Amino acid sequence: MAKTQTRYICQSCGHVELQWKGQCPDCGEWGTLQEEVSVKPSAAKAAARARSPLESAEPRRMSEIGLEDFGRWSTGINELDRVLGETAYEGKRQSGVVPGSVILLGGDPGIGKSTLLTQVAHIVSGSVGPVLYASGEESAQQIKMRSRRLGPAGADLFLLAETDLDSIERAVTQTQPACVVVDSIQTMRHPEVESAPGTVSQVRACTETLMRLAKTRGCAVFLVGHVTKEGAIAGPRVLEHMVDTVLYFEGERTQTYRILRAVKNRFGSTNEIGVFEMGGEGLLQVENPSEMLLSERDANGPGSVVTAAMEGTRPLLVEVQALCAPSHLAQPRRSATGLDYNRTTMVLAVLEKRVGIRLGNQDVFTNVAGGVRLLEPGADLALAIAVASSLSDLPVDAETIAVGEIGLAGEVRAVQNLEKRLQEAARLGFRRAIVPARNARKFSGKIGIELVPAHNVRQAVDAAFGGRTASAG
Ligand code: TYD
Ligand code: MG
Repeated sequence: MAKTQTRYICQSCGHVELQWKGQCPDCGEWGTLQEEVSVKPSAAKAAARARSPLESAEPRRMSEIGLEDFGRWSTGINELDRVLGETAYEGKRQSGVVPGSVILLGGDPGIGKSTLLTQVAHIVSGSVGPVLYASGEESAQQIKMRSRRLGPAGADLFLLAETDLDSIERAVTQTQPACVVVDSIQTMRHPEVESAPGTVSQVRACTETLMRLAKTRGCAVFLVGHVTKEGAIAGPRVLEHMVDTVLYFEGERTQTYRILRAVKNRFGSTNEIGVFEMGGEGLLQVENPSEMLLSERDANGPGSVVTAAMEGTRPLLVEVQALCAPSHLAQPRRSATGLDYNRTTMVLAVLEKRVGIRLGNQDVFTNVAGGVRLLEPGADLALAIAVASSLSDLPVDAETIAVGEIGLAGEVRAVQNLEKRLQEAARLGFRRAIVPARNARKFSGKIGIELVPAHNVRQAVDAAFGGRTASAG
């Protein structure tokens, strides 16, 4: 007989308590413990599960494992393939999905998760093999309506509007898919777990079952995951730990472009991004994101500086903006959108202390245009110049970019891949680049762009305003 058990599970970290508590003793979150009833699988079922092919697999010699195990298939969407990762295989570089992997796609509602995966399903069902699209979010008609906007689908695209995991398992046995899409993991219900869909126990049990399906059948599974107000994938962190790859789809819903980013990837790097634009016929790939990101720039306005950031293997030109406004608060405001907050306050402190720019009575807002997140320190110098520019109301020359990391002593530190960044800038018509002096020594005019070496922030700020003084004293 199956035995019922009541437990209290933290919805944030997955910690289990036998009694209710206001605060999770493990992660310290308040009000996250929730009652969940689970049924312990009977002994026979547990034994059957123990014999599943995955667990009973014999150990194999490393030398006997063929390289074909690592072949990837393409989703037909370059921007997605690159984010999923790349492997060298027989001298060729292959990017895309590793068979048998489980990929979690998170993102705000309405950002385009279902659209992206429907497009993948369309292409893959024609090029790789059967695809099963299981949705607990929308009816078959709704999915069909979206699908019609996205062009033709392969003949082997199967649809299942279902939340019951057993039905999905049955459908997988029936259709033998190369790829399964589960939209969304929070709507799925495991028959042996009594808690409501979306709770920790449910999400974990469903993911476990789907992972077993993926590993034993070699089909890839895409899971859609909802994102909470705080920006994490709803359900426990446990979910992110279980799957092979975690992708986030980001962007402002009011703007048309979307950025796909890997935050965890067992089969590739996590610093590649994919850029898309939402159009009337689904998501379009943006092959020249720099052009798009700079298209709305007011080149002659103060407080705007372009930098060349590296996103994985690709340089990306983005506009860093700053606004300084007289503050009426005892503690002036500091805000950073798209930039690291601590890094931003550090750059402001360096400007005060090393360049003598007074910001104590100013609210400072900083922003990366286009909803991009810049996490590398190479954007420091552009930020510093943007702040100086906004404070003094002097625009920076529209054809100048700035790249460099700032240290606490006010020194400008070298960055990696400067050549790639400068090539991208030159391609888009920039003529001057303020760069770390250490980097600049290695170049001698072979990139069609004038280099202005800076040893420290003061030199960089002075160079940006071409002799007009923005740095006070
Ligand atoms: P959707 O993929 O349903 O988002 P999610 O699954 O992440 O919640 O799509 C969201 C939005 O995209 C929706 O508001 C409609 C819009 N959209 C387009 O603009 N063009 C299209 O071709 C499609 C299919 C959707
Ligand atoms: Mg959806």
